[in-house]
Amino acid sequence: MSLFSIFVVAALFLSLCDSFKGPHVICDVSPKDLYVEQNSSVEIVCQTSCSNNGKVFWTLNGIHISESLSKTINATHTVLSLRNFTQSSAAVQCHSSYGNQLLGGVTIRTYSKPKNITCVLHYDVNKPNGVPKLFTCSWEHHVDSSQTTNYTILNNSSVEICKSQGVNCTHNSTRLADDILDYMYFLNPYTIKVRAKTQYWETDSDPYVFDPRSITKINPPKNLKITPSSENLSVKWDPDEPRCQVKYYKTSEPDKAPEVLWTNPSDFSISVFTIEEVESCINYNVSVRCASERGLWSEWSPEKTAFTKLSRSRIRMGLWRKVAEPGKNGKRKVHLMWKGIPSTCREAFLVKQVAYNDNTTTGNYTYTSCGNSSCDVDVDHRSHRLYLTVSDSGALLDSVYVPAVGDASLPEVWSIKTTKSRMRGIIQVSWNVSEKPVSSYIIDWTHDGRRYFWKETTFTNATLFGLLHRTPYNITVTPLFNNISGNSIHAEPFCSSMGVPEDIDVTVEEVDDKSAFVKWDIKSQNPCNDVDTYTIFYEAQGLQHNVSVSGSEDGVWLKDLKPNTHYNVRVQATGDNETNMSSKVHFITNKYDPRLIKALSICGGILVVLVLSIGLTCAVQWKKFNDKPVPNPRLSSVAKWLTQSHAKVEGFFQPTTDQIENQVVTGKTQRNRGAPLTPVRNGNDCDTSFSSLQENEPEERFSETSETQLLSSPEGSMVFSSSQSSPYRSQDTAEPLLEKPSKSDLGKKQEKTPMKSLYISLNMFEQSDVR
Ligand SMILES: *[C@@H]1O[C@H](CO)[C@@H](O)[C@H](O)[C@H]1NC(C)=O
Ligand SMILES: *[C@@H]1O[C@H](CO)[C@@H](O)[C@H](O)[C@H]1NC(C)=O
Ligand SMILES: *[C@@H]1O[C@H](CO)[C@@H](O)[C@H](O)[C@H]1NC(C)=O
Ligand SMILES: *[C@@H]1O[C@H](CO)[C@@H](O)[C@H](O)[C@H]1NC(C)=O
Ligand SMILES: *[C@@H]1O[C@H](CO)[C@@H](O)[C@H](O)[C@H]1NC(C)=O
Ligand SMILES: *[C@@H]1O[C@H](CO)[C@@H](O)[C@H](O)[C@H]1NC(C)=O
Ligand SMILES: *[C@@H]1O[C@H](CO)[C@@H](O)[C@H](O)[C@H]1NC(C)=O
Ligand SMILES: *[C@@H]1O[C@H](CO)[C@@H](O)[C@H](O)[C@H]1NC(C)=O
Ligand SMILES: *[C@@H]1O[C@H](CO)[C@@H](O)[C@H](O)[C@H]1NC(C)=O
Ligand SMILES: *[C@@H]1O[C@H](CO)[C@@H](O)[C@H](O)[C@H]1NC(C)=O
Ligand SMILES: *[C@@H]1O[C@H](CO)[C@@H](O)[C@H](O)[C@H]1NC(C)=O
Ligand SMILES: *[C@@H]1O[C@H](CO)[C@@H](O)[C@H](O)[C@H]1NC(C)=O
Repeated sequence: MSLFSIFVVAALFLSLCDSFKGPHVICDVSPKDLYVEQNSSVEIVCQTSCSNNGKVFWTLNGIHISESLSKTINATHTVLSLRNFTQSSAAVQCHSSYGNQLLGGVTIRTYSKPKNITCVLHYDVNKPNGVPKLFTCSWEHHVDSSQTTNYTILNNSSVEICKSQGVNCTHNSTRLADDILDYMYFLNPYTIKVRAKTQYWETDSDPYVFDPRSITKINPPKNLKITPSSENLSVKWDPDEPRCQVKYYKTSEPDKAPEVLWTNPSDFSISVFTIEEVESCINYNVSVRCASERGLWSEWSPEKTAFTKLSRSRIRMGLWRKVAEPGKNGKRKVHLMWKGIPSTCREAFLVKQVAYNDNTTTGNYTYTSCGNSSCDVDVDHRSHRLYLTVSDSGALLDSVYVPAVGDASLPEVWSIKTTKSRMRGIIQVSWNVSEKPVSSYIIDWTHDGRRYFWKETTFTNATLFGLLHRTPYNITVTPLFNNISGNSIHAEPFCSSMGVPEDIDVTVEEVDDKSAFVKWDIKSQNPCNDVDTYTIFYEAQGLQHNVSVSGSEDGVWLKDLKPNTHYNVRVQATGDNETNMSSKVHFITNKYDPRLIKALSICGGILVVLVLSIGLTCAVQWKKFNDKPVPNPRLSSVAKWLTQSHAKVEGFFQPTTDQIENQVVTGKTQRNRGAPLTPVRNGNDCDTSFSSLQENEPEERFSETSETQLLSSPEGSMVFSSSQSSPYRSQDTAEPLLEKPSKSDLGKKQEKTPMKSLYISLNMFEQSDVR
């Protein structure tokens, strides 16, 4: 600690000062350039010969300095004293009080001593530890970068150790090491100082005293070896040192402060260190540093990355199984699955299966190697315990029980009930308990039979969250007791939520003048459909109507329509939380009621028959009147008659057929008109049976009409179908032609030559005369 006091006396007086005519008297400030150590005091003299009254004031960087720091010595000299000057650079100026005239100025610059010296005794990186050979010191020093500074390290006896132009310096010589080692040996402290020198100033640091042993820094450990085991990481390195630290952190979290562990100083000879608290199956970066007994820490060794193994104690794993029904060979497929093992684990798994009543046969178990998260094994009818182990280490992870087939002694659950939550994708399940003791239940669920989810509960209910929307789930509940699983119960596949079908296919099946039957078919890729109501919107001439029916219907009669009017109709399905609209379908109502037309045609037909019958009667009466002789029925002949009337028969019914074809949809039957708006059940049998009947109709109609029509032949002939019993069975004259074909034969013939029929001509009116 030394503070400088600089007292500078300006002695520049011109000899001509005395001469009485002196308009050129000198004023100035001295000294001119000033370098002072920081915190030291400065004195500056202002010569005021030129000034009239000699009064002056001072400024520092343009700011007035308190007058108390200034002192007038005599008429021509004023001295400014600045104490503990710290500014690195400042301009001090002297002004004449009279007229504010600048008399002179000086720039003061400060410098500091080298500070915070640290020295290290160390080793060549490539050489083994032993006798330290290198001595490196570093310090702090702020200097103007425009100046080059020469630094010198001096020891106690002012012997130069090392020179440099930077803020550090390394001495590389065995000679010095020997010198220091002497001190080390005698446990003496060693003292150095750093001298800084520029062209303007020179300063020495405060002395730095150290114990040579405490500044010894060995080289970082080498050959770091990390061996992962199932529970920890063991770390080994060269060489053995009494004090070491192990630093480790997850490779994925480089910004987190690493864990630092100390090796136990008492375990002098143990060079293997174990890191216990590691997570399973992730990368850790590890490095080590060591120190001699009282020395400095070495640098950290280069980091090594190690991948940890699966540790049973540090994961929360779950193991469950699904047991299939026994196959033909009596074996049951068991699907084991587990969760909680990090996906990064590279371990392979093995299932050891032990039949439960088979403890006597030791060491002959079945082993099955498994996939990452599931395993399929076959078991027989007996009860088994399946152990999941790690293949290479054989470490046991977990086990699960498979009961024997039909084991009635196990706990059971009854009456599983599934309910849909008001929230989407949530199913609530509840069940009842058997009398037998149960500690908890495993509930598992799947939507595809491949991925299973499960959880354990001690309640008799559970809520399944996060399910896929509109997906049927298979849910199973299994009771557990004493780590043994009981008999499972399956719920019916249950939809996680419902939606409305994507497609609604609308058809207008029947149209009358004032009503129409609208039917719809729903099509959906998704099995989870639920329609609360169908709303049918129908519109004509800008007027819209609608009618709603329950979601279980698939058709409706629209009533009170206008005849001969263009309508369009749409069907909207409304479900829980959704609606869906069909596309528009158009239809035109009829001009007249088709029933009226039908009634009219039937009446017309009857009228024609009536007229014909009357005509026939008249003709017969006329004939009877004409032909008095009565023909013997025995003489009557039998012949095939090609009816021309058949064409007429079809024509007779033609209007009806036409009427049907006029409708929008043909080939469908009449609906129940008695109850308009009465819906028709979906997929009713009537429909299909009817359409099949319809296909057959032309043929059947023909065969029927051909039979009935013959009875009303305009020729007045009676025709007897073969099934009818004839009073003329005994006619002998008819014999060659009387081979009566069976009904089926007749049918066939009618198919091929439908115009041919068997006729017997006779005059009924003459019968009584013959007898
Ligand atoms: C100057 O001295 C003061 C008090 O004596 C001290 O607090 C300060 O650190 C010193 N500054 C320097 C640069 O040495
Ligand atoms: C004023 O003081 C300075 C310094 O002490 C001295 O050199 C100088 O001669 C003195 N001047 C007069 C006129 O006394
Ligand atoms: C100025 O320095 C002196 C020693 O030189 C010291 O005693 C004093 O406390 C310092 N004053 C200030 C204000 O730093
Ligand atoms: C001294 O130097 C060391 C390292 O060189 C540094 O950690 C420390 O903060 C420094 N001390 C001061 C007072 O600047
Ligand atoms: C020594 O100082 C120089 C700059 O002057 C620097 O680049 C170097 O890293 C320092 N060396 C040590 C060991 O501090
Ligand atoms: C020390 O000096 C030796 C030889 O003089 C040289 O081989 C070695 O590299 C030097 N070490 C350092 C760190 O400068
Ligand atoms: C600094 O050292 C160099 C050589 O080592 C020398 O040439 C130079 O003059 C020195 N500078 C000062 C200011 O001592
Ligand atoms: C078979 O061994 C296991 C464990 O070694 C034991 O818990 C179980 O009770 C034994 N089974 C029988 C039937 O002895
Ligand atoms: C082990 O199993 C093999 C065939 O799987 C069988 O031949 C052998 O007898 C069994 N040993 C015992 C002790 O059960
Ligand atoms: C209804 O559906 C919307 C979007 O589809 C959904 O955000 C909302 O949660 C559903 N509400 C219910 C009760 O399911
Ligand atoms: C769900 O269970 C039924 C029997 O209840 C079965 O037919 C169906 O295949 C199962 N579905 C899935 C995805 O497991
Ligand atoms: C089970 O039911 C009870 C009462 O019905 C209810 O308080 C509880 O929250 C339910 N637990 C689950 C998991 O759904």
